[in-house]
Amino acid sequence: MLSNKFVVLGVMVAVGAWSASAMTLEEIDGVFEFAELQYKKATDSLTVEEGIPRNSHADGTWNQLGITSWTSGFFPGCLWLIYAQNQDDDWKKEAQKWTAPLEPLKTYDHHHDVGFMVFCSYGEGYRLTQDPEYKAIILQTADTLATRFRPSGGIIQSWGSIHNENTKTYRVIIDNMMNLEMMLWASKNGGDETLKAIALTHADTTMKHHFRPDGSSFHKLTYELESGKVLLKQTHQGYADDSMWARGQAWALYGYTMMYRETEEERYLETAEKAAAIYLKRLPKDGIPRWDFDAPDSKPFKDASAAAIASSALVELSQLTGKKEYLAAAEKALEELSTDRYLAKGEKYQCLLLHSVGNLNRTSEVDVNISYADYYFLEALSRLKKVKQGQPL
Ligand code: GLY
Repeated sequence: MLSNKFVVLGVMVAVGAWSASAMTLEEIDGVFEFAELQYKKATDSLTVEEGIPRNSHADGTWNQLGITSWTSGFFPGCLWLIYAQNQDDDWKKEAQKWTAPLEPLKTYDHHHDVGFMVFCSYGEGYRLTQDPEYKAIILQTADTLATRFRPSGGIIQSWGSIHNENTKTYRVIIDNMMNLEMMLWASKNGGDETLKAIALTHADTTMKHHFRPDGSSFHKLTYELESGKVLLKQTHQGYADDSMWARGQAWALYGYTMMYRETEEERYLETAEKAAAIYLKRLPKDGIPRWDFDAPDSKPFKDASAAAIASSALVELSQLTGKKEYLAAAEKALEELSTDRYLAKGEKYQCLLLHSVGNLNRTSEVDVNISYADYYFLEALSRLKKVKQGQPL
């Protein structure tokens, strides 16, 4: 819930934004109608038993994976975001159906991504239904995530088992900032206060080690378990260790914007604005980054997912700060993503956005649709719509 200070700022920005507005409410609703069309094709042709849709094959069909894929929350999340717009009971039932298989994740401690997986599915669902069973699942998942906290480093381990007694080092990626929202929510909604302490400690440690002086972020850090010292600063999905991986920068921008919303701690706002500044400074004219800001011309792929995540964060940052330039940048990117250059037009597709990059270094999911691009695009448009209607986010 946003404080009154933020609501007032939100209305100020909304009023000011009308003159510079690029997307009309009708255009935003038009994208939601297209999303409805696409996701109806998907839910009509897929079964839950075959797995959760993650990315689209070249023939337009969805690739379905088990619930432990880090992306499993996004497809149900998209259904909830569509239901939030159309308030149609059939969509609610569909969203519930695709959320239900994720329940075992409440005790899944094999990686850090349960925040994405459970908060984008059950979290969206709880906001709309207030279903107490959903709340219980979110609270338990937050407790499970907390078990991955490493006190010596003051940070949550991203990958690898936490039960291996031979572990000497562990890795943390910038993406992990996104999982903190569930912990903060849990601590405010009946969960343990420790969850908040862990989330803030993780955010503070990340702030200290994961950023370069210019506000760009490293993707992957290796910590020594015993001392908590940082041993390596590298990339995993970016072009180079010292490059700016676009989605990583978007996770950083979103993560610290969310941290400021939840805590009102100025240090998080400063970090979010620094992350935004370098992102916006280096953004090409069309508002959509390459998969890495330093990617060479031989690998020129755009990453719609990074643009969608950053846009959602920038809409929120505009409301928290009253700065119209953030809203303008978000709107420009969202307008571009809403053109036929990015929308998955064509009979064969059952998804929303084309042209994202998962992991180019492994030639995996290059220039394709991926469910998280759809999810953050819909979230960003929902937020933009609220701003235009003068509502708090
Ligand atoms: N969190 C993994 C990714 O952004 O690809």
